Amino acid sequence: MNAALFGFAESASQAAALAQALGLACHEVAVRPFPDGESLVRVPAAAETAILYRSLDNPDAKLVELLLAASALRDLGARRVVLVAPYLAYMRQDMAFNPGEAVSQRVIGGLLAAHFDALVTLDPHLHRIATLGEVVPGIPALALSAAPLLAGVLDAGERPVLVGPDSESRPWVEAIAAPLGLDVVVGEKVRNGDRAVDLALPGIGIVTGRKAVLVDDVISSGMTLIAATRQLLAAGATGVEALATHCLASGDDLAALHAAGVARVRATQSVPGPVATLPVAGLIAQALHGHGLLAG
Ligand code: R5P
Repeated sequence: MNAALFGFAESASQAAALAQALGLACHEVAVRPFPDGESLVRVPAAAETAILYRSLDNPDAKLVELLLAASALRDLGARRVVLVAPYLAYMRQDMAFNPGEAVSQRVIGGLLAAHFDALVTLDPHLHRIATLGEVVPGIPALALSAAPLLAGVLDAGERPVLVGPDSESRPWVEAIAAPLGLDVVVGEKVRNGDRAVDLALPGIGIVTGRKAVLVDDVISSGMTLIAATRQLLAAGATGVEALATHCLASGDDLAALHAAGVARVRATQSVPGPVATLPVAGLIAQALHGHGLLAG
């Protein structure tokens, strides 16, 4: 096997951790911005199988560099380029909600399928499209679940109530709650704008006098969790924490979450940030090995 891992500066430590878990060399893709906004991308080494690691938060800038890096790896002789994107962007726009809107998921998925030989990600936000394979047609696609990582940091002895803020969070909440025998509340959410949500939490009464742990796939603006936290505290929860696979929230948004009463936010290291504390390298390495994606 001749394989190596290639990462970018913004997630150098996560890339290094994955390379170490795989027993591979780790190289950094060099990116030099030109004054006009273009990027010069250079890969420093060659490998028959190249694992290209980049999370796709802030995707518009990152995607172009990613495609350039994949092309450069092939020019140096890579026969297989595997994209490991722990956070996969543009998954939520899976239909035209209004006439004239692009179906971003289909466009970005098609682009990745055309440039990579396989895709590995964590908890992609799939809703109306059931499988990741439909998003990236024609290439192996692994959608790994972070539920075991999130479950691993819960103190089940406290018997917290797990709260999914909307129907889309139900799979994560139930996957974590079931093996531990924990109670679950799943909300009904209507989104009225980027930072405006209406939320109902049927059965919220069971949180009175108990700790609540919010579980979601993505924290973006944080408004979903803020709405849920206010209701949980008003219903008598003794405390509220949040667990998520991906935290995209800015520092200001995290401060607003804490101000609303969320005592602690924890997320996986899929997107680097101050609350991204749960390592994902082991989970991803196991999947790459298990599915034979390192073979030449
Ligand atoms: C949406 O369906 C997701 O599961 C999250 O609940 C949502 O992306 C969170 O967004 P925000 O933090 O902006 O409310």
